[in-house]
Amino acid sequence: MLYLRGTFLQLLALISSITFVHGRLLLTSNDLLDKYDFIVVGGGTGGNVVASRLSEDPSVSVLVIEAGGSNDVLESQVPFLWPRLIGSTHDWNYTSAPQATLGDRSVALPRGHILGGSSSINGMLYTRGTSDDYDSIAELVGDPRWSWDNIQPYIRKNELWSPPSSNRPTEGEFDPSVHGRDGLVGVSLPSILQPIDNRVLQTTRENGEFPFNLDVNSGHHLGIGWLQSTVTSAGSRASSATSYLGNGVIDRPNLDVLLEAQVTRLLLSNATNGVTFDTVEFVSGADTPQSVKATREIILSAGSIGTPNILLHSGVGDAGDLARVGIQPIHQLPSVGRNLTDHVIAALPWFANSTETFETIARNTSLQAMLLEEWKKNGTGFFSGSGIDHLGYVRLANNASIFDSVVDPAGPNTGHIELTIVNGNIFSEPTPDNFIFVEVMLTKSLSRGSLTLNSSNPLDNPIIDPAYLAHDFDRFALREAVRCGERFLTSPAWEGYVLDRVGNFATIDTQDDNQLDEFLRETVSPGLHFVGTASMSPKGASWGVTDPDLKVKGLNGIRVVDASVIPLIPAAHTQVPVYIFAERAAAFIKEDWKLV
Ligand SMILES: Cc1cc2nc3c(=O)[nH]c(=O)nc-3n(C[C@H](O)[C@H](O)[C@H](O)COP(=O)(O)OP(=O)(O)OC[C@H]3O[C@@H](n4cnc5c(N)ncnc54)[C@H](O)[C@@H]3O)c2cc1C
Ligand SMILES: *[C@@H]1O[C@H](CO)[C@@H](O)[C@H](O)[C@H]1NC(C)=O
Ligand SMILES: *[C@@H]1O[C@H](CO)[C@@H](O)[C@H](O)[C@H]1NC(C)=O
Ligand SMILES: *[C@@H]1O[C@H](CO)[C@@H](O)[C@H](O)[C@H]1NC(C)=O
Ligand SMILES: *[C@@H]1O[C@H](CO)[C@@H](O)[C@H](O)[C@H]1NC(C)=O
Ligand SMILES: *[C@@H]1O[C@H](CO)[C@@H](O)[C@H](O)[C@H]1NC(C)=O
Ligand SMILES: *[C@@H]1O[C@H](CO)[C@@H](O)[C@H](O)[C@H]1NC(C)=O
Ligand SMILES: *[C@@H]1O[C@H](CO)[C@@H](O)[C@H](O)[C@H]1NC(C)=O
Ligand SMILES: *[C@@H]1O[C@H](CO)[C@@H](O)[C@H](O)[C@H]1NC(C)=O
Repeated sequence: MLYLRGTFLQLLALISSITFVHGRLLLTSNDLLDKYDFIVVGGGTGGNVVASRLSEDPSVSVLVIEAGGSNDVLESQVPFLWPRLIGSTHDWNYTSAPQATLGDRSVALPRGHILGGSSSINGMLYTRGTSDDYDSIAELVGDPRWSWDNIQPYIRKNELWSPPSSNRPTEGEFDPSVHGRDGLVGVSLPSILQPIDNRVLQTTRENGEFPFNLDVNSGHHLGIGWLQSTVTSAGSRASSATSYLGNGVIDRPNLDVLLEAQVTRLLLSNATNGVTFDTVEFVSGADTPQSVKATREIILSAGSIGTPNILLHSGVGDAGDLARVGIQPIHQLPSVGRNLTDHVIAALPWFANSTETFETIARNTSLQAMLLEEWKKNGTGFFSGSGIDHLGYVRLANNASIFDSVVDPAGPNTGHIELTIVNGNIFSEPTPDNFIFVEVMLTKSLSRGSLTLNSSNPLDNPIIDPAYLAHDFDRFALREAVRCGERFLTSPAWEGYVLDRVGNFATIDTQDDNQLDEFLRETVSPGLHFVGTASMSPKGASWGVTDPDLKVKGLNGIRVVDASVIPLIPAAHTQVPVYIFAERAAAFIKEDWKLV
């Protein structure tokens, strides 16, 4: 995710609703059947993929239960307005436990509370991660089906490579051989260009540390390349809701999607052969809990926070921890909620010698009205993209001192640092100044946090402790990331454009570790790429929550399909890894039940 500090300008006056054709989206549980073959818990990024693929077989019935409402929301459709979704009714509004490593700050942890989940509110960056990321996961779980080579068909099932809405020529900005047009989620290059683009490209020619990479999604992402985003050729956000539940899917008679219903627990069946879960308990409005049965499988897709939370409230987790909050332990799986992993971002601001930055739009409401009008009429212009055109990946030096004590978590094709070049503050309040940012992100974090329960009430928030920067490696790599970002913007290409550093970034000596650590404690923000809380592990392992086929270990009836099963954080923003995992998972389920 991209997360700069501050809040975005108010555009309320301009927002008007756009009408959608609804199929079987249910707002009350009155019309539900008593039972379905498959129940998907959470209509988010992963969940909608599974629901869509399973309901391709007309002989099975599928229900999705989603806590949030419809994605028929202008700010979710207009790419540039995405920051407005944060802290809105479409956000779960989680907050982290105080982070000792960040001077006891608690940080906001947004998650999508809307059909499409976080894919309906995210920054739309399309990044797959590298071949190393998938190969190391396959190796860790001892199952070659997760390797880079073997997941290629699932990348293709997901991706609908599309021309940008402006139809501008894009030759030389991507490698067509690594993209597919057989999938559902629109992916495109920026529709309009930013005035800083030429300087970014000039930097790749003159500074050997930052070579040009034709396509950062080829499996080899080192260098600087053009950003690809989940934006359609019409200039709108592509989410799992707009794509996987689009026309022709949502009207399938064997698919029901219940909105505004929060799943509280999964309940045991009274089958006597082993531990079997077959019932989903949920609350819809102010009503008392209701339940619905799955005759084949429950697919948990409530995300890296929601999924472990539901498992724990269902008695699946560490028995001691559960008993302490008054929950009857049913199945001992101590890894539920453990190994919570996220990226960390530092946004580095400089004053820009230009008026052609985001701030100029933020201060001019009549310009905003014109841009919205252009988007509504033609799907083009500034509002048809996130406004970001380039990103890239850089490795720490092989002889970096940290590798004396820490095994390198990244493979040889994989950067430890992500750089994103941003033409101003995406979240800015109107200011008289103009800025340029390099956002640096730590890609292969080694800090591991946890999610635990605060009470036995499933409607209470869990305690989320990502333990940001707790590991030495993460602090080392993030310091180097800041220095790397500074080297990028002080390359000759930026002479006369990049002026002084801004705010508390201006007052530190970036070569001084202590000053840099203090700056980072005060300013870093979460990547919002949580993984690992219901981790996949080898069959028979004493740790982990699911087997490599994503079935929960040691019990029957539940599979997990969302970011929580990803055992090692990829060097990527995580929506594409989730799409890939979900397409792979849907194929597992169809094979097991011999579906078409
Ligand atoms: C603000 C933000 C910006 C981001 N930017 C990017 C980006 O630019 N690029 C990128 O690749 N990734 C980005 N990410 C990360 C990416 O979007 C997520 O990793 C990914 O979408 C997670 O998919 P998921 O299926 O695991 O969970 P989600 O998509 O979050 O889906 C979980 C769903 O389950 C529902 N749910 C949860 N609990 C319950 C319950 N008890 N009952 C019923 N429903 C429930 C939720 O409402 C939600 O719809 C961003 C994330 C955020 C929050
Ligand atoms: C998140 O916070 C906003 C602002 O307080 C609120 O309007 C919204 O309802 C909250 N989201 C949820 C899901 O409760
Ligand atoms: C399971 O239990 C429920 C309620 O406790 C009961 O109504 C039902 O008949 C039982 N089913 C079987 C198969 O035993
Ligand atoms: C966390 O993940 C690692 C593998 O990356 C594993 O060895 C360890 O046992 C896990 N810890 C828990 C508590 O699940
Ligand atoms: C706001 O934008 C409009 C349209 O580009 C422009 O005509 C006007 O001069 C701008 N106003 C200011 C104060 O810059
Ligand atoms: C939309 O596109 C048409 C045709 O190119 C153009 O004439 C018109 O001005 C555009 N509308 C807006 C609001 O930009
Ligand atoms: C790493 O090697 C480079 C030369 O390749 C050298 O300049 C640098 O000092 C070395 N760094 C460390 C920490 O040894
Ligand atoms: C946990 O519960 C305590 C006591 O009710 C409350 O003060 C605290 O805010 C809760 N924490 C979270 C994360 O909700
Ligand atoms: C700002 O840019 C202009 C050219 O566009 C240049 O003349 C001027 O010197 C620059 N200012 C600074 C402080 O570099």
